[in-house]
Amino acid sequence: MGRVFYKQIILNFISFFEYWSIIGEGENMKQKVKLVSVGHYLPEKILTNADLEKMVDTSDEWITQRTGIKERRIASSGETAATMGVMAAKDALQKAGLSADDIDIIICATITGDYQTPSTSCLIQKELAAKKAFAFDISAACSGFIYGLDIAEKYIASDPSKRVLIVATEKLSSVTDWKDRVTCVLFGDGAGAAIVEASNDSSGILRSELNSNGDNYDLLIIKAGGSKNPASQLTLEQSQHFLEMQGNEVFKNAVTDMKNAAVKVVECSGWNKDDIKLLIPHQANIRIIEAIRKRLKLKKDQVYINLHKIGNTSASTIPIALSQALEESRIQKGDKIVLVSFGAGFTSAGMTIEW
Ligand code: ACO
Repeated sequence: MGRVFYKQIILNFISFFEYWSIIGEGENMKQKVKLVSVGHYLPEKILTNADLEKMVDTSDEWITQRTGIKERRIASSGETAATMGVMAAKDALQKAGLSADDIDIIICATITGDYQTPSTSCLIQKELAAKKAFAFDISAACSGFIYGLDIAEKYIASDPSKRVLIVATEKLSSVTDWKDRVTCVLFGDGAGAAIVEASNDSSGILRSELNSNGDNYDLLIIKAGGSKNPASQLTLEQSQHFLEMQGNEVFKNAVTDMKNAAVKVVECSGWNKDDIKLLIPHQANIRIIEAIRKRLKLKKDQVYINLHKIGNTSASTIPIALSQALEESRIQKGDKIVLVSFGAGFTSAGMTIEW
């Protein structure tokens, strides 16, 4: 009896030890998900503030002071969200030394897809001949790239063998009212893409924070073309197929929501402001970016800015900026990077990445 009792105690102890070994191992081995490469594509045509002065009642001085934008890229008539997305995806594949056969999932973030249906991601899948990949679009406006990264991270966490291509691509010139000086000075076209897979070291995504606030859905909106207001003679006459914006309200919400998302992911990552190598914010307005920089108490060289050359390309701004920052060697292995965005919906998102 005594021997059985002691044997049971020893067995219990072994089980307890094994349990904690497995838990401990699980924590240590928790595999991160990393961005293997980032690519981008910009159309050739440059539209400067001087060009806009000839189109609407505006000035280079007003645009530069109020937005920070000097020029933006405009797609040619033959270029679409899909064709630009394919170019960015090819850049990312080439930088990673991978082929389309290596991709399992394609996520496309866009609000200016080629068609209402099929998805732009399916067009990109066809053009890349990524035969084994399944593909879908997400609509989260300017936050689409971070939303896509977060979805990819969760997907890979449940199946680490998967490799995801995230493409953010926008032809905003196709939904811009070129007679409306309030919006037409802001937007540009372009695409960015990232390849994401399970990490084999400490690099990868640390924290993400996604938010949505549908209460303000009508402050940044394309009113017609969907099921609520299908295209008609009247919607055309009322210019309802263009992007409309209550600039001041969007501005205030963008500053608050981007600051909150950035602070949350930085704190949850256990970082302080000096740890951050580069903040890559959504490129909408230099005054929004400056307000966030000051609230996070970052130095100017801790923030990446390219909006003076590219303008607001919605979901594409962050991957284009990330791709350019990498090409300029502004990011090295081990660097701590923060992404933060805000867009129609409203949506906002933040993410910390150890490169
Ligand atoms: N040139 C000259 N004057 C102009 C122009 C222009 N291009 N645009 C507006 N104005 C005028 C206005 O008519 C107004 O004149 P008034 O005082 O006589 O009425 C004056 O300038 C001030 O207008 P505001 O709208 O108050 O200008 P503001 O300083 O707010 O700047 C802007 C406008 C740049 C749009 C700003 O509000 C902004 O950047 N908002 C946020 C945009 C954003 O973040 N978007 C992110 C999401 S985008 C997406 O999801 C696709």
